[in-house]
Amino acid sequence: MTRIKILPQEVAHKIAAGEVIERPASVIKELAENSIDAQSTQITLEIRNGGIELIRVQDNGIGIAKDELELAFQPHATSKISNAEDLFSLYTLGFRGEALPSMASISKLTLYSRPSYQEHGYKIYQKSGEFVVEPVGTPEGTTVVVEDLFYNVPARLKFLKSAATERRRVLDMATRLALAHPHVAFRVIAEGKPVLSTPGNGRLLDTILLVEGKNIAPELIKFNNEFAWGQVQGYLGSARLAKGNRSGEVFVMNGRVVYNETIRSALEKAYEGLLKGRMFPWAVVAIELNPELVDCNVHPAKEEIRFAEEQILFSDLIQAFRSALRERNLAPKVEKREIFAKTSPKTAVVQEQLQWAPQTWEHVDKVLREYRPERTRDTEAAFAPTTIMEPKPKAEVVQEEKAELDPNVEAEQTESGLEETRNMLI
Ligand SMILES: Nc1ncnc2c1ncn2[C@@H]1O[C@H](COP(=O)(O)OP(=O)(O)OP(=O)(O)O)[C@@H](O)[C@H]1O
Ligand SMILES: [Mg+2]
Repeated sequence: MTRIKILPQEVAHKIAAGEVIERPASVIKELAENSIDAQSTQITLEIRNGGIELIRVQDNGIGIAKDELELAFQPHATSKISNAEDLFSLYTLGFRGEALPSMASISKLTLYSRPSYQEHGYKIYQKSGEFVVEPVGTPEGTTVVVEDLFYNVPARLKFLKSAATERRRVLDMATRLALAHPHVAFRVIAEGKPVLSTPGNGRLLDTILLVEGKNIAPELIKFNNEFAWGQVQGYLGSARLAKGNRSGEVFVMNGRVVYNETIRSALEKAYEGLLKGRMFPWAVVAIELNPELVDCNVHPAKEEIRFAEEQILFSDLIQAFRSALRERNLAPKVEKREIFAKTSPKTAVVQEQLQWAPQTWEHVDKVLREYRPERTRDTEAAFAPTTIMEPKPKAEVVQEEKAELDPNVEAEQTESGLEETRNMLI
């Protein structure tokens, strides 16, 4: 009979790491969140070969003291919470104390850090299973270099996609993080090229225009609503910005990039009738609420969350989204119009048509329900007049500057880099 035994620590670490780190984008998320928690105002994210070969994250945050460097790599070691109750008063993105040990167990990781009060910086890395701490010249803040991700977990390596796909996921995550933190200047360097550089001036709109292109400004609808549970604000995109997948739906909860069913269904419900077939809205939705009302400890990756009052949140969000869409006349209104059947031009029928300026959503919902089964080609067009996808005007392409893989490199905020980000993200 097989006997029960305790797994060696190293195996247990690798199993735990598998839940936190799935791919290069998870490393980017964990490291950038650590930098944000450390009050950084500038974060540089750099990847080589889609992040499989190298990921480097440099920040100008508070740093880690020399005598705490080793502690930071112990499982369940965190400076962010002290007891279980703290989980419901979270103002930090990290709290599990397992990201650094997880990453260190499945990659070759080196961390350099210097708090402002320390004259020298120190680096920490593993040699033959032991941590080594050495003095090093390093700027104020922390830099983490993760090389050869999953080099010792070949099964995991096999599940990674091509470098191009992993790069796209990294850029998608970096973009979401930048949108969630407009007060942080993010620089992203992929394969030696600067691809994104956000201003970090605290203005969400400026960050959006940098990521998506200045030409989308007229397609954005700003909203900001307060409810008993907190506040929701952000920008909704007109139907012209709709996408064939959900990559344009960015949800942020208390600064955390999240994927959440309640927010998603409220958003998509609000757009019902405005988008054609399998199209999904573009939106950045930032929710601020009392941390007591949300559980962030649903999954080790901390991307899923659970709200205490889901129904209330759902209906309040729909109300917020719909009133924003209505203000900009993006919701349909009903009017009567004559339509001549193509087959018989003499027979004119009077039919209710949907135009764009509703009086009330309730009325529009009713009309949509009634008309959906009998859509004709004409009414189909009227249902989704703004889904005609116009080609986005291409931003001017200027000569690209090659940047060395050096964390101190001044990545130029070139339009070409941004254009490339956009292309990479499509
Ligand atoms: N960039 C950084 N700047 C300053 N301190 C850092 C940085 N990264 C990590 N730390 C310190 O190391 C500790 C461990 O980091 P780690 O990411 O493993 O855990 P955590 O962030 O507390 O929780 P989680 O596992 O949920 O991310 C942090 O609590 C923090 O004190
Ligand atoms: Mg962390």
